[in-house]
Amino acid sequence: MEHSLYEKIATQVEKQIHNGIFLPGKKIPSVRKLSKQLNVSVATVLQAYSLLEDRGIIKARPQKGYFVQDHIPPKQSSNSNIVKPIENDGSIHTLLRRLLHASQRPDIVQFAAAIPQSPFLPIRQLQRSVGRLMRLEPEICAAYAFTPGSLSLRRQIAIRMLDTGCQLQPDDITITMGCQNGLMLSLQAIAKAGDTIAIESPTYHGVLQVIEVLQMKAIEIPCDSQHGINLNVLEQTLKQWPIKACIVTPDNQNPTGATLNHIARQHLLTLATRHQFTLIEDDVYGELNYNHRREHALKADDQTNSIIYCSSFSKSIAPGFRVGWIVAGKHQAQIEHLAYIQSLAVPTLTQTAITNFLENGAYDRHLRRTRAAYHDNLIRYQAIISQHFPTGTSTSTPTGGFLLWVTLPSDIDAMALHTQALNIGIGILPGVAFSLTNQYPHHFRINYALTWDTKTQDALKQLGKLACQQVPNGY
Ligand SMILES: Cc1ncc(COP(=O)(O)O)c(C=O)c1O
Repeated sequence: MEHSLYEKIATQVEKQIHNGIFLPGKKIPSVRKLSKQLNVSVATVLQAYSLLEDRGIIKARPQKGYFVQDHIPPKQSSNSNIVKPIENDGSIHTLLRRLLHASQRPDIVQFAAAIPQSPFLPIRQLQRSVGRLMRLEPEICAAYAFTPGSLSLRRQIAIRMLDTGCQLQPDDITITMGCQNGLMLSLQAIAKAGDTIAIESPTYHGVLQVIEVLQMKAIEIPCDSQHGINLNVLEQTLKQWPIKACIVTPDNQNPTGATLNHIARQHLLTLATRHQFTLIEDDVYGELNYNHRREHALKADDQTNSIIYCSSFSKSIAPGFRVGWIVAGKHQAQIEHLAYIQSLAVPTLTQTAITNFLENGAYDRHLRRTRAAYHDNLIRYQAIISQHFPTGTSTSTPTGGFLLWVTLPSDIDAMALHTQALNIGIGILPGVAFSLTNQYPHHFRINYALTWDTKTQDALKQLGKLACQQVPNGY
């Protein structure tokens, strides 16, 4: 059915509201301004706004203009049983930039970003290593480490990947500038604009952005904290839509913390073979499992050499070093070609510092310490949340990593909580950042790789207090 112009404008404004561009209680553009911006008549905008009023999304205030309602009804299409490809209209990038930028202010308690606080990173050792390198081998700065990157580092990675069940040669590995770079290269190599990519929902926001910039379509497959991606829904979806690739994080998924069990992994591998889509495996949190015995990576059971495995040292050693890697099987030549064209080489200094850190055995000691510290913090965070947040709040049960997914009662708006928290110096990442279809208006993600001091504890309690204030009758 052809939609009239005013309906299209209403849908566009509604989408911006659901994506958090216009916040609850805040003013939206005046009728005159929007009519100028869109080059349509004032009457058309008025008709669009009156439709949004009827839907309970905005309200008019005499002499003041139009405002977003304090509580917006959930989006009609947010039924998680119905999945369909979403064309990314660019608004997620604008929103994320704003959210992440706001949350990275140095003066705030940093629950928002997925970055461990520096006491959880081996910064001293890296500092010594970089200092020594600059003293003894300054010429490394004058060299290019052309793609596929340092052989010594690839050798170390091949050794470490034995833990994932993958038997690799250094030549199977391509060094990238972080895992994000790996995800981008993977999609560029195997799909084109307009193709449909299945993703977990909620998912890591960087995946949404890569799909957006490559003009692909995302199809969101529900993912829960207990079981990970819902393979029954994925199977149904594969029967309906031509899926080119599926991006999954089998270990400690961001944001739910879910890990796929052995049976689910086998099921996923079977689906990929049967329906001939490429699995892109994001293993960036794989080394942070609390249970030391890992499930095999999907890549370890890759019969057709077609799975693309991406990871990095960002979550466990140094996000600022930008060192990651890809094991791309039959797509490797294409990926290395793209990597070479895009950046020629990978940084020599940080690759060498990480190689030294891996070679001297310090990495395993560091991992043992941080995994235990994150697990302790998880229990502490969950205890505070159960005591200080409104009744009905629940949290995920991560199997590793340092990210907690919090579900608030349905009358609490996580976007409003984000804004209020930021005003008092606390950063959280609201659910809107994890989906293109705003399915998580009452959810947020917090980072528990923070030192457990009174500042962190107080911030968590204050967050709970703010959430309680949003409940109509207190607790
Ligand atoms: C699931 C997931 N994949 C990839 C990345 C990006 O990693 P990197 O910093 O190595 O690019 C992140 C960062 O938050 C992530 O959470």
